[in-house]
Amino acid sequence: MARIPQETIEQIFATARIEEVIGEYVQLKKSGSNLKGLSPFNNEKSPSFMVSPAKQIFKDFSSGKGGTMVTFLMELEQMSYPEALRWIAKKYNIEVPEEREQTPEELAAGNHREAVFLISDVANKWFQEQLHETEEGRAVGLSYFRERGFTEETIKKFQLGYSPEASDAFAKYAISSKYNEKALEDSGISMNGERGWYDRFRGRVMFPIHSVSGRVLGFGGRILKNNVKAAKYLNSPENPIYHKSKVLYGLYQAKQEIVKRDEAYLVEGYTDVISFHQNGVQNVVSSSGTALTEGQIIMLKRYSSNITLLYDGDAAGIRASFRGLDMMLEAGINVRVVPFPDGEDPDSFAQKHSTEELEAFLKNNRKDFISYKTSVLLEDVAGDPLKRAEMIREVVGSIAKVPDAIGQEVFIKEASRILEIDPNALYEELARLANVQNRQAKRKQAEAPPMEVITTQEMPKQPFGQFQEEQVINLIIARGTEDMLEEGVDLEDSIPISITEWIVRSIEQDGITFETPIFATIFEMVKAELAQEFVPDTQFWTMQEDPAIVQVAIDAITEKYTLSNWERKEIYLPSEKNTIKELVPETVLRLKSVWVERKLKALKNTFNEENVDIDYYMTEFDKWNQLRQRVNDSLNRII
Ligand code: CTP
Ligand code: MN
Repeated sequence: MARIPQETIEQIFATARIEEVIGEYVQLKKSGSNLKGLSPFNNEKSPSFMVSPAKQIFKDFSSGKGGTMVTFLMELEQMSYPEALRWIAKKYNIEVPEEREQTPEELAAGNHREAVFLISDVANKWFQEQLHETEEGRAVGLSYFRERGFTEETIKKFQLGYSPEASDAFAKYAISSKYNEKALEDSGISMNGERGWYDRFRGRVMFPIHSVSGRVLGFGGRILKNNVKAAKYLNSPENPIYHKSKVLYGLYQAKQEIVKRDEAYLVEGYTDVISFHQNGVQNVVSSSGTALTEGQIIMLKRYSSNITLLYDGDAAGIRASFRGLDMMLEAGINVRVVPFPDGEDPDSFAQKHSTEELEAFLKNNRKDFISYKTSVLLEDVAGDPLKRAEMIREVVGSIAKVPDAIGQEVFIKEASRILEIDPNALYEELARLANVQNRQAKRKQAEAPPMEVITTQEMPKQPFGQFQEEQVINLIIARGTEDMLEEGVDLEDSIPISITEWIVRSIEQDGITFETPIFATIFEMVKAELAQEFVPDTQFWTMQEDPAIVQVAIDAITEKYTLSNWERKEIYLPSEKNTIKELVPETVLRLKSVWVERKLKALKNTFNEENVDIDYYMTEFDKWNQLRQRVNDSLNRII
């Protein structure tokens, strides 16, 4: 991808707001001067994800991850740095000048995944063009959609398309336009068999499947005739960009409405989603005909933890899904159910009724999942006492999955009412189940190798000196632009300089180097910037492309630079020293101190080697020994 000019990067950072970018993924609530929400990186129950609008950074306390809006997108959407920047630019209508258009060959050579993204996007546009602008597309595809009651607006909104009858129509187009053939094949849109190229979706109407950020990942294609033997729907195969278990159809179009209403409707099919939208009910997604996976649950829960399942009339399907739903209960989701009348699916119902009727139907028929399950199972066992006992266990089994005690109590009462059973009997069953689960967990633990218990002494040791290096880097990042020369500090040249310049000068003077690779890199960058008369500010660091550098910067900024860092290491400094003019020299001295100890130790080791150069050894030893003296004297003076 073409490079994005530095001015544009700066403009993007200056215009965009992290809370708005992250707000597209996480429901954020005010918490003091920060915003708080459920971590999108973990399936957590209480929020530990903080966004600071003032600092324009986020910090996820559950995983320790921190970053900017750009690294957030890189992490969550697996975007590259330029992709993330472009995504934000698009949201804020910032024009990103292209230095030049890239040829398909270059893209293919660059990044295969990118090439698969590209071909999917190209196919999506092409299928739409076929639908609207070819005779076949209009006669066959468009008339089919119209017959199903989809408006022009709906068709455009969901980017519906048409794949022509000719068996290699898209392959021909893609190959003659020089798109990467490997990417075409891997996308699954066309296949290269013994008799040449042929299109997977030939003669079908097309439903593109989008990522949460709106990129096309794959397709579903519906056959037009109702009675042929071929599968009604064909879907893209798993490929480098399409992972069925991690995608929810319609989430891209629905996510904001889900947050707004704090509820998501879950339906089975593409057409259910589309007809609901057309009817004005937009908080709806589809799992494409299968049970929800854990990945989909985590994804959906980012937007709301109220999920309402909309079932077709057929009862067998409902029962089959009961077990899978326990997984949602376990994830702390408030699961509700709306069964549709026999012979109707959400699509047909939405097509037949007005928005008001649809909303009223959803509202009046919504039941919590456990009560619903209880009444369905109750119907099944009418009069059979053996089956009844089994059914009670089954219901209580679901209640046991509910993570909070209050919720469990509500459901026990509800089940007791429906089953006409003493609630205490149900509580007993619940306790028995909890016992069984406990024992199972214990047995598992006994079988598994003992958990590694990390005591403080055994904590994975940081390499010697890494902490001291980090403290110096933190100062440079968080406070580097502040003036160093304050009253009472006697430097030979008494012009005020920045903390960063002061540190670099002092470190270079003594020939100290950074051993931790990331800190060494940062220090080199600092020197390069200083050479150009620029003292890097916090913005400079958070705008970096390398997420590891941004992470260091965020840690530096959020921890700020306080003495508590040292105290955690059990190095106690008098509290009146908590001023920058003393903190800076002392922090640098501590780095020098560990560095020189390390150097001397290494030097002593070489002395025992066979052909040691005594002269060299002595001069080196002298040099570092002197520095050690000097450092220790200064440190003692300070302490
Ligand atoms: N599905 C699929 N492959 C099939 C059948 C179904 O992938 N052979 C998925 C599709 O995502 C489909 C969903 O399961 O949308 C629900 O299937 P179904 O209820 O049979 O289809 P409808 O959505 O009702 O489709 P239509 O109204 O177009 O007949
Ligand atoms: Mn249908």
